[in-house]
Amino acid sequence: MESRATFPLSRRSLLATLPFLNEFALAQRSFVPGAPADAVFLNANENPLGPCAEAVAALQAMLPRGGRYMFGESLKLAALMAQREGVPAECVQIFAGSSDPLHRAILAFCGPGRPYVFGEPGYEAGQRPAEFINAPVHAIPLTNSYAHDVKAMVEAAAGKSALFYICNPNNPTGTITPRADIEWLLRNKPAGSLVLLDEAYIHFCDEPPCTDLVAKGADLIVLRTFSKIYGMAGLRCGAAIARRDLLVKLEPYSTGFLPTSGLIGALASLSAKDVVPTRKKLVRDTRESTFAWLRERNYRFIPSVSNKFMLDTGKPGVETMSALRAKGVIIGRAWPCWPNHVRVTIGTPEEMTRFQEALAAVLAA
Ligand SMILES: Cc1ncc(COP(=O)(O)O)c(C=O)c1O
Repeated sequence: MESRATFPLSRRSLLATLPFLNEFALAQRSFVPGAPADAVFLNANENPLGPCAEAVAALQAMLPRGGRYMFGESLKLAALMAQREGVPAECVQIFAGSSDPLHRAILAFCGPGRPYVFGEPGYEAGQRPAEFINAPVHAIPLTNSYAHDVKAMVEAAAGKSALFYICNPNNPTGTITPRADIEWLLRNKPAGSLVLLDEAYIHFCDEPPCTDLVAKGADLIVLRTFSKIYGMAGLRCGAAIARRDLLVKLEPYSTGFLPTSGLIGALASLSAKDVVPTRKKLVRDTRESTFAWLRERNYRFIPSVSNKFMLDTGKPGVETMSALRAKGVIIGRAWPCWPNHVRVTIGTPEEMTRFQEALAAVLAA
């Protein structure tokens, strides 16, 4: 697999745009300075529970050592994740969240003549670095069942070695692309291509992860993050799981600092008991009772298996967003390809009750 050797950057393109966009930057646009203290934030797919108790205790104990880089901890964490995923330790690289390896992968594997292909609506972060390095960008609509249309994605690449970005379950729809489709994509992609599989939300659903395909040598980078089910978005920790020769190609694209808050919190979270099943059940129960409430009122939405869903407001989504904001309920954004839908993150049961009360009032008006 080849990687790009140089950035085709002109001074003009450098000034025109910065290549990095992530959930933090996107959700910040819906941030409301001076929002009431009891405002409910359902806009950034954060976990309102925050880090688990074990992670909080480990972080408190670690603070006095905050003057150290703690090099060994990232190796420990990589070894623990590798053991859990059934891959060799050299196949796990730790980063400050998953946005970092996502951007690096695009910079490393796309370029002029090396397209970036992703599903629409999808997580937008990758488009900007791809455009920044003049890679052709192909946004391919999801299928009728809201899966990635892997056949159309391969057609769009037109035989060129491409980077295929699949988010499973998808952000923003919270829907699944079946594993069989991912395997088909791996078998049928043009030579030299890579599949970048973003499993940021995999813990919320029953779909099996695809890290076992890494152990089998696939042209695949799997992204994981501690920002979602583990509630550590602000503490920053994530990983790329792939063959070593692919991980090595991500190295040149950043200064690579690892916050010790993320390392220590992640180690404690992985070692804590039952964090994933307990939180998965809580999110599922809250999501399903929200869906039952929506169905009773004939509100349209896309059934999701994740910690967020798309609500069809039947009119430009920004109108519902700002009406809800006026009631102290901050929801996520609309996607240009689906302007009537808005993304809503599943909060605590109490937060979802606030959402329901505000939505009923807004839509009745
Ligand atoms: C699909 C997806 N991938 C990656 C990320 C990046 O998260 P982080 O950099 O916090 O790990 C997000 C954040 O919301 C996301 O939705």
